[in-house]
Amino acid sequence: MNRRELLRDVSIATAAASLVSSAQAQVPAAGINVLIAYYSVTGNTEKMAQGVAEGAKTVSGTSVVLKRVGEVTAEDLLSSDAVIIGSPVYFGNMAGEVKTFFDNWLLKFDFFREFKMRNKVGGAFATGGSISNGKEITMMAILEAMLINKMIITSAGGTFGFGASATTGPDSPGIDEKELAAARDLGKRVTEVAGVNKRGLAQVQ
Ligand SMILES: Cc1cc2nc3c(=O)[nH]c(=O)nc-3n(C[C@H](O)[C@H](O)[C@H](O)COP(=O)(O)O)c2cc1C
Repeated sequence: MNRRELLRDVSIATAAASLVSSAQAQVPAAGINVLIAYYSVTGNTEKMAQGVAEGAKTVSGTSVVLKRVGEVTAEDLLSSDAVIIGSPVYFGNMAGEVKTFFDNWLLKFDFFREFKMRNKVGGAFATGGSISNGKEITMMAILEAMLINKMIITSAGGTFGFGASATTGPDSPGIDEKELAAARDLGKRVTEVAGVNKRGLAQVQ
């Protein structure tokens, strides 16, 4: 890329960022529904889910539903503006229960044929015992399922660029403050984007 192209790209990015921030300022104070769904056996992913919920609630007017994937109803999904899904890493990928949850978007809820999750905003989080044994793959697999359902995916960017994740095994037991902060950042960012998206959709629909 030459200097002129670089400058052009930087100006486009700056203009887009200022559009997003001015749109965020106009997000309606009420009415962003965020569903956070997770699977957890030993509590780590649940703790991250609570962090995601805390972050989402920092955006004014947000309602949060926090549930285990097995308890989520069709109505929970349909009434949401954003869906943030968390899973422990099981053998390098999402836990079977989380995969079954997604499979049910077609098999049980029959959302896929008419793309009923279309244009909702999505995010992902994961916990894994090892430093590098599948957290990013797990988050990407969650985001892929959302993309196939025509959702709009996002993350908080930066150090936790795929969503939010935590290493929970002997190298770094439990959820530390940095990981919890990443969970809060994810909840806040996905909710902000959902607000901008909802406002935009209201204008075109
Ligand atoms: C069946 C099983 C498979 C697992 N496979 C992996 C793995 O491939 N990579 C990894 O980092 N951790 C793996 N773990 C560890 C869990 O991902 C980790 O303990 C996680 O934080 C558990 O989440 P929870 O406390 O919410 O249940 C596995 C755990 C179980 C029970």
